[in-house]
Amino acid sequence: MATIEATTTPGQAGRATAVTVLGLGAMGRALATALMAAGHRVTVWNRTPARTAALAGQGAIPADSVHDAVAASPLVVACLLDHASVHAVLDPVVDGLAGRALVNVTTTTPAQALELAAWASDHGIAYLDGALMAVPEMIGRPEAAILYSGDATVFEDHRALLDAWGDSTWFGADAGLASLWDLAILSGMYLLLAGFLHGAAMVAPAGVSAADFAARAAPFLAAMTDGFSGMADVVDGGDYSVEGRQSLSFSDLGDIVQASVDQGVSTELIDPIQRMIRRQIDAGHADEAFERIYEEIRRTAP
Ligand SMILES: NC(=O)c1ccc[n+]([C@@H]2O[C@H](COP(=O)([O-])OP(=O)(O)OC[C@H]3O[C@@H](n4cnc5c(N)ncnc54)[C@H](OP(=O)(O)O)[C@@H]3O)[C@@H](O)[C@H]2O)c1
Repeated sequence: MATIEATTTPGQAGRATAVTVLGLGAMGRALATALMAAGHRVTVWNRTPARTAALAGQGAIPADSVHDAVAASPLVVACLLDHASVHAVLDPVVDGLAGRALVNVTTTTPAQALELAAWASDHGIAYLDGALMAVPEMIGRPEAAILYSGDATVFEDHRALLDAWGDSTWFGADAGLASLWDLAILSGMYLLLAGFLHGAAMVAPAGVSAADFAARAAPFLAAMTDGFSGMADVVDGGDYSVEGRQSLSFSDLGDIVQASVDQGVSTELIDPIQRMIRRQIDAGHADEAFERIYEEIRRTAP
């Protein structure tokens, strides 16, 4: 992958814009509400009309059809379930979208985002892909990180409006980049969360509640994230023999695997990590840093 340069620029002063939001699920409602709060003229449409009516009561302009919703604004936001639902909603109104800007914050894979960008380009639509690193309750607060990639002009022209949702960052012209960053960060989240649940399962047979385990594990696991930058330095430097890092042999998970078995807990989560460590040790890297399993992860990608 080419070098990624994340770009953040300060938001400009707010300017009222006519914007349409398609999709009023939990996230779409939060996005539309934040745009209204920022003073924008918000037209809304949802497949199930009852949700449109609810937002109309808060000041949004309800549209009876996707066609009318798209026609109402030069900027159209799609917040639907998935890639298939985006096409299901937008394909019939593609002619109406021509000449407008489309910001799609529906979760997709990078390949799906690229497909949508190509589709948009073929139909004269300026396409900005977005990935929401937030739950609906966070929208409108600075801790909501919203990642964008694709059309730089759409991002720059509507930066003040996008900032109503949270902290906006444009990752590059490749429309797949926002999804890629989103899914990569989420992979770390799911592995960490699954690891917590594995630990909770290990202590459960000893009569320890998950709540008690969480209280003990959370501060330690949170502190571990402070080590990411040091790990990154090793990975980026490409030299796993550096001094001062925990070695692969010290990182052997044999005791954890055995204790899991003894507790009657599945080792399906931990076995693959142990196998990677073992392969690197068997290849002669026992004294090198734990970070070396990064090479295993890269190597075993299909
Ligand atoms: N909620 C979160 O915490 C969160 C966080 C980050 C990212 N996201 C992403 O944001 C997007 C929306 O999430 P959400 O939480 O709002 O989901 P949601 O509450 O399940 O809402 C889904 C929306 O998609 C619409 N929809 C689904 N299939 C459709 C179809 N075939 N045609 C037309 N409309 C269709 C639904 O319409 P109906 O009302 O008619 O069913 C509804 O408006 C997803 O891509 C999700 O991954 C959500």
